[in-house]
Amino acid sequence: MANQRSVTITDNATGKSVECAVLEGQYGAPVIDVRKLYNELGMFTFDIGYGSTASCRSAITHLDGEQGVLLHRGYPIEQLAEHSSFVEVAYLLVHGELPTANELAEWEHALKMHGMTHEHLSRFYSGYRYDAHPMSVLTGVVGAVASFYHANTDIYSNDDRLATARRVIGKMPGLVSKIYRYQSGLPFVYPDNARGYVENFMYMMYSWPTEPYVANPVAVRALELLMILHADHEQNASTSTVRLAGSAETNPFACIAAGIATLWGKSHGGANEAVVTMLEEIGDAKNIRRFVDRAKDKNDNFRLMGFGHRVYKNYDPRAKIIRKACHDLLEDMNLNQPLFEIAMELERIALEDDYFIERKLYPNVDFYSGLIYQALNIPTAMFTCMFALARSAGWIAQWNELMSDPDFRIGRPRQLYIGAAERDYVPLAER
Ligand code: ACO
Repeated sequence: MANQRSVTITDNATGKSVECAVLEGQYGAPVIDVRKLYNELGMFTFDIGYGSTASCRSAITHLDGEQGVLLHRGYPIEQLAEHSSFVEVAYLLVHGELPTANELAEWEHALKMHGMTHEHLSRFYSGYRYDAHPMSVLTGVVGAVASFYHANTDIYSNDDRLATARRVIGKMPGLVSKIYRYQSGLPFVYPDNARGYVENFMYMMYSWPTEPYVANPVAVRALELLMILHADHEQNASTSTVRLAGSAETNPFACIAAGIATLWGKSHGGANEAVVTMLEEIGDAKNIRRFVDRAKDKNDNFRLMGFGHRVYKNYDPRAKIIRKACHDLLEDMNLNQPLFEIAMELERIALEDDYFIERKLYPNVDFYSGLIYQALNIPTAMFTCMFALARSAGWIAQWNELMSDPDFRIGRPRQLYIGAAERDYVPLAER
């Protein structure tokens, strides 16, 4: 291993050593390649929650939690948020480069051509109770789409994987909007391909069968921005789930369904819903201190929702953009939003508090996103579906990257077994 940086791991008990290569990426901490550790030392690494483990190589997204930096394919999120569109960012994530005008037009057209779903799929929705949680429905219906694209999808064909990416991104707006329509007792709406991607989603959500639908451009832009900011975020819990499922060579729609199930949790994407519920519970700025004290109390499992992040130990760059967008949107739409006032005051109080300062707990992407969804009349229980709609672009790009990795193999973590030692079965009568 001459000239290559390495780390030597020595077992004190046996004196045996293994020299592990240190691999350097473009950015981020170098990683120790421990792949020969088990063969040479008979040991595994132990890292609950994967806080110190790089699970893959990836060229899609980089984030620097100390500096508050987020890059997609090298482009800073601030520039994409200002100049790009969700459709363009989705292209960038999947293909690796910004599209030319022709490529963008073709991509947009292709997404539209994949906007319909098989008519029979619509019947799945009525199988759910009227008040089913939308994320439960979304997990189910996206899983069901797998049945329509299974036998003919070759996951090792680049063309088939790109077709899958177009299908996933193209179909998600229809799949999400149908949840809202079903639960509101409204008829399903087919896409209108004369409209752009985000506007079409709003049309399928909110249009009335008897009236022409004119989208509010301020609302379309606000939603577009949120979708850009949620499109991908490196190897988070749901993306890692998509990759782990994909590594077993399963159907890509089933992988996305697994990602949606993971995103639902309130430690992850479910936080946007939990933030608004929390702000409503706080109700008035005078109650904030009580909630902050609860969040600091080790005997209370309450946490400030929308605060903290595994990687960002500085302000989440997406939260900065969203905070401003939320402010602008409420002003543009002339909305009086008392929850926004409470959120700003809560942020101010928490950021001055030693507990939050010492632990580097800052607002994350979901602290303000729920307030924008609320202003757009999206029901609280559907907030995480909105996240899933945008994140599908990142999930499918990451799945595509996984499937084309030459080192591809099934993901199979090991464990530190702490259970009972081997013992003999005791017959029921003797227990
Ligand atoms: N409120 C109060 N205390 C917190 C919070 C919070 N929101 N988040 C972390 N802490 C405290 C922990 O109690 C812990 O304190 P200790 O060191 O005294 O024990 C310390 O900060 C470190 O917390 P961990 O749980 O170790 O941090 P981890 O990286 O595992 O968790 C997470 C990150 C899950 C995001 C956490 O901060 C959290 O639960 N936040 C609230 C939920 C949320 O907003 N999730 C959305 C994340 S963004 C996304 O997924 C899109």
